[in-house]
Amino acid sequence: MFLNLTRQKIESPIFSKLNQNNFLRIYRWNPYLAISPYFSIYPINFNKCGPMMLDALIHIKETQDSTLTFRRSCREGICGSCAMNINGVNTLACLNVINTKMQFLTVYPLPHMKIIKDLVPDLTNFYKQYSLIKPWLTKVLVSDKENLQSIVDRSKLNGLYECILCACCSSSCPSYWWNSDKYLGPAILLQAYRWIVDSRDFSKIQRLKFLNNSMRLFRCHSILNCTKACPKSLDPGSVINSLKFEIFHLGERN
Ligand code: FES
Repeated sequence: MFLNLTRQKIESPIFSKLNQNNFLRIYRWNPYLAISPYFSIYPINFNKCGPMMLDALIHIKETQDSTLTFRRSCREGICGSCAMNINGVNTLACLNVINTKMQFLTVYPLPHMKIIKDLVPDLTNFYKQYSLIKPWLTKVLVSDKENLQSIVDRSKLNGLYECILCACCSSSCPSYWWNSDKYLGPAILLQAYRWIVDSRDFSKIQRLKFLNNSMRLFRCHSILNCTKACPKSLDPGSVINSLKFEIFHLGERN
């Protein structure tokens, strides 16, 4: 049995009468229904599903409510598709171990993103911004041999190439919440830096000039929510500081 409730009704005594200790409280919204967003509340027995939040969501979809909508693919923290806000924290559902001591576990989609349905955010703008930074080798040495990197040059990509573009960091950033049409956000800036420090690419100056803008890069105020939110333990906050340093080093701050 599950219940659809507005926020005000969640503390209803009905829950104390149910012989059930744990509930998942999940944000729901369907663009094809002319009703406001609401919560669905599902009783859940954690002994009947796996230990991760994604296991619980899949169990609910299979046993209680097939209309519940969310994205997932790898279940290994690699594809980034199961990013959502769980108990107030942006994270990957497949890496989030359920806190079985909490009676109500609350699941929202990523904050301040347009929603396609239920827990599925619309990442159209996010991917458009990703394409703007040209995430590929643009100018390379023309040679008939392999373009090898030294061990030192390759190590500069550590802490950058691991980003899975889940958008947990960007959707935790107040600057991105209010200016996502102009500010690129921490995930895209981290990706931009990944190509700037790649020793095989020779368009560092052009890439930095593109970022040298009061909105694209300098809208970052070093709040560092991004670093706290990253489920892969990366540090987009300090990467953005490195980008600012590179631009100041060029002497081209607008
Ligand atoms: Fe791929 Fe969670 S399902 S990161």
